[in-house]
Amino acid sequence: PMASVETITSCIHTILTQAQHRGITPLGAAFRSAMYNQRKGLKPVQVKTGKLAKQPIPAEHAQHLCVYHEADPATVAAAIDGALAAHANWEALPWADRAAIFLKAADLVSGKYRYQLMAATMLGQGKNAWQAEIDAAAELSDFFRFGVKFVEELYQQQPPRNSKGAWNRVEYRPLEGFVLAVSPFNFTAIGGNLCGAPAMVGNVVVWKPSPAATYANYLTYQLLAEAGVPPGVIQFVPGPPPEVVQQCIGHPAFAALHFTGSTHVFRSLWKNIAANLDNYKGYPRIVGETGGKNFHVVHESAELTNAVMQTVRGAYEYQGQKCSALSRLYVSSSLWANGFKDKLLQEVSKIKVGPAHDFSNFMGPVIGRPAFDKVTGYIKKARDSGSEIIFGGDADDSVGYFIQPTIILSKDPKSVTFIEEIFGPVLSVYVFDDAEFDATLDLVDSTSSYGLTGSIFASDRHALVRASDRLRHAAGNVYYNEKCTGAVVGQQPFGGARASGTNDKAGSVSIFYRFVSARSIKENF
Ligand code: ALA
Repeated sequence: PMASVETITSCIHTILTQAQHRGITPLGAAFRSAMYNQRKGLKPVQVKTGKLAKQPIPAEHAQHLCVYHEADPATVAAAIDGALAAHANWEALPWADRAAIFLKAADLVSGKYRYQLMAATMLGQGKNAWQAEIDAAAELSDFFRFGVKFVEELYQQQPPRNSKGAWNRVEYRPLEGFVLAVSPFNFTAIGGNLCGAPAMVGNVVVWKPSPAATYANYLTYQLLAEAGVPPGVIQFVPGPPPEVVQQCIGHPAFAALHFTGSTHVFRSLWKNIAANLDNYKGYPRIVGETGGKNFHVVHESAELTNAVMQTVRGAYEYQGQKCSALSRLYVSSSLWANGFKDKLLQEVSKIKVGPAHDFSNFMGPVIGRPAFDKVTGYIKKARDSGSEIIFGGDADDSVGYFIQPTIILSKDPKSVTFIEEIFGPVLSVYVFDDAEFDATLDLVDSTSSYGLTGSIFASDRHALVRASDRLRHAAGNVYYNEKCTGAVVGQQPFGGARASGTNDKAGSVSIFYRFVSARSIKENF
C-alpha cells in the first residue's frame, strides 16, 4: 500500500514541474485572485435555511460528524443565479490564471487540508487511514494537478490546416449555462473532480454532494475558495437529493450533468433531462459513471498467491464500496482445489473489521442503514437459494454498520449475487472446469449488463489474450494479473460503458472535451 501512495506522489511532482516549465506560477495568479476577492469583499454567501440535517458517523451511528443547513428551493434558485452571474468573468479569465488556482488547490489538498480531509473521510465515509489517504489526499490533489495538464493538452492541440489566404483555428469555449455536479459518498476525490473538471475549462458549477459525504466535500469547497476560485463559480448546495437535482434540471440554463452514483438514479435523471429538452437553449451534456458488477477471471496458469491477494484487496478494501470493487470471481477448478481456496480463506480470516481509529482494522462499516439492509439482504437471499456461505455472513449494526467479509460459493453462475450490484463486502465465487475456460468467458460477458472493471489472471499469454478479446466490451478498465480497483489519475483513465456509464474517462483529457463547446474560426487575410 505505501508503495502505491509513493508512486502517486512522485507523479504529482513530475507534472507540477512540467506546469512550472510552461510558465504557470502555481502561487502567483491564485494568490492575486484570492486577494482580489478579499479586497472586494467577495465572500461565499453562507445561507442558513434552518432546515437542519446531520451527517452520521457510520462506525458509530448514534454520533454525527456535522450538522448542516439543507438548501431549500429559494437557495437553489439563488445558487443558480449566482453561478450564472459569475460565468462571464470566469470564462474571460486567462487559462494560466485558472490553472494557477487549481494548482494552488492541489497544494492545499496535499498540505494544509490533508489531515482534515482524511479525518472527515475516515469518520464520515468509514474509510481506514490508508483508504482515506489514497482518496482524499492523493487522488483529490491528482485530479487538480493532472487536470491542469490535461486542459493544457486540450488547449494546445494541433490546430486545423490552413489554406491559402486563410488562417484556421479552433477554440474551446465553456458551455453556456451551468453544470450540475452530483457526487457520491464513496470517494471524496470524485466530488472534487465532478465540480473541478468543468470549472477548469471555464464553466460554472452547482454542486450537490451526497448527504453521506457532506463534510469532506465541504472542506474541498472551502479549499477551492481559498485557492482563489471566485465566489459563484462553484456553488456548494447540500440538500435533499431529488429536490435539488430536479430543480437544477428544470432550469432553462441547465447545460450539463456530471454525475457519479447509482445506475438507477442516473437513468431517471437522463429521462428527466430528455423530458425537459424543449426548455433548454441547447442539448445538455450528460456524463455519468454509475454501477458495476466487476469480475476476476483466474485461469489455471495464474500465479496463485498473487491472484488470491489481489482478490482479497479487490473485494474487501473499503468494504467493497468502490464502484470498481470486485464482486464476482471465476476460478479454475484445479487452482481452486490446489491451494486457491485454502489461501483465500486463510487471508480473509486475517481481515479485522472495526472503526478507523484502530489502524489495524482493514475494513470499516458500510455507509448507512439502507446499505446495511441491502447487503445483508443479499447474503440472506444467497443462503435461502442454496448457495454456500464459505466465509463470513455475519453482521452487527448495534453500534455501527459492520458486515464481515463474506464469500458465497455457488454452482449457479446466474444466481442473483452474480448479476446484481451489491456494493458491499460480498464476493460470489464460481469454480469452472479447466476445460471450460472459453465457455466461462462467454458466461462472464453474457452476465455483464455492467461494463466497468475486470481482471484476468494467467501466466499463459495465449489465455490472457483470448480472455481479453472475448471480454472486450465487458469492462472499460481491464487489468492483467492485478486487482480490478485502484485506477490512478493520469495512468489508467477510468470509466465503463454498458449500464456503468458514458465512459468518458475520468483522470484523462477525454473528460474535459465533454465540458467545452468548440468554435472554429476562419480568418481571411
Ligand atoms: N477509480 C477508483 C478505482 O479504480 C474507483 O478503484
